[in-house]
Amino acid sequence: MSRVYNFAAGPAALPEEVLKKAAGELVEHGSSGMSVMEMSHRSADYDAIIKGAESVLREIMNIPDTYEVLFVQGGASSQFAMVPMNLFTKSKKTDLVHTGAWTKRAISEAKKYGTVNIIASSEDKNFNYIPELDKKSFSADADYFYICSNNTIEGTRYTTFPDTGSVPLVADMSSNILSEKVDVSRFGVIFAGAQKNIGPAGVTVVIIRKDLIGKAMEITPTMFNYKIHADEKSLYNTPPTYGIYIAKLVFEWIKEKGGVQAIEKLNKEKAALLYEYLDESKLFNGTVVKKDRSLMNVPFVTGNEELDKKFIKEAKAIGLVELKGHRSVGGMRASIYNAMPIEGVKKLVDFMKKFETENK
Ligand SMILES: Cc1ncc(COP(=O)(O)O)c(C=O)c1O
Repeated sequence: MSRVYNFAAGPAALPEEVLKKAAGELVEHGSSGMSVMEMSHRSADYDAIIKGAESVLREIMNIPDTYEVLFVQGGASSQFAMVPMNLFTKSKKTDLVHTGAWTKRAISEAKKYGTVNIIASSEDKNFNYIPELDKKSFSADADYFYICSNNTIEGTRYTTFPDTGSVPLVADMSSNILSEKVDVSRFGVIFAGAQKNIGPAGVTVVIIRKDLIGKAMEITPTMFNYKIHADEKSLYNTPPTYGIYIAKLVFEWIKEKGGVQAIEKLNKEKAALLYEYLDESKLFNGTVVKKDRSLMNVPFVTGNEELDKKFIKEAKAIGLVELKGHRSVGGMRASIYNAMPIEGVKKLVDFMKKFETENK
């Protein structure tokens, strides 16, 4: 068996070094005499793992001490409810930039608890760009300002973040956390489901400014209250222990590679290979406006469904898998998260060139 290049949007490829390290300690972790999966979440051995995960994440993202780092469950989708339940404290109003399928879900959840003020949207062009924002349209009394920093399905990303003044900026960073440097202090809350750049599905990382914790709505279920998870150091109940352990290995892997800055450089090289070819190709077209192109998710089409299908099938036959695009965009999507080696992108581009020559 040989490993394929997996271009899935998530769950997605993990670094091979991490998988091998985990395999090596699967049955017995350190001197514990047991697998991480068998450990009590209250044991000293596990304490070292969860504290280690937090401390390496703090280091590689340069997270200030004024922020809590939480490992919770429920996926990024639970954050669509947790954010409003915990942050609707005064006006019960949020400003939101609508950029695709994942902000749509965030809107419908937040609406259950307060007012969602959509200040800009790119729906008019099937979300293929990030709208320009006019500061004058921002609500001074909003409890928070919500964005999705990278739109996994549509393939767009913010290259600069809105200046929201004293209104806390909340970002769903599920599909681009740790892919490029961000100044955490610009945000009130950053959250991310693990299954793209962090580890296996089941863990959600929440980075939250401490002063935003402790004011949850009365109706907030205990498990949805950030304060519970912050006070209990993410050990209020049994956390996704193995997922957090893999996340720790991934954070250590990033650190060994030279940190987020080095990963960002590589991600830009990888994305450029693909976009440069898309720009010169007569067969394939990128679907996103150039300035807002994601470094992580690259959708492209031929405009001919039969040809798209043929491409996906032939790519799979040579070990380039999960290239089918999301149904809302069609065509293909190559997700090239941190763990995708540059060799995988080169092999994809070479195959696209060959396919183009053969299908003129
Ligand atoms: C940007 C973004 N937000 C939220 C989600 C939902 O995540 P989950 O499936 O962990 O609830 C996804 C899933 O792919 C995503 O890409």
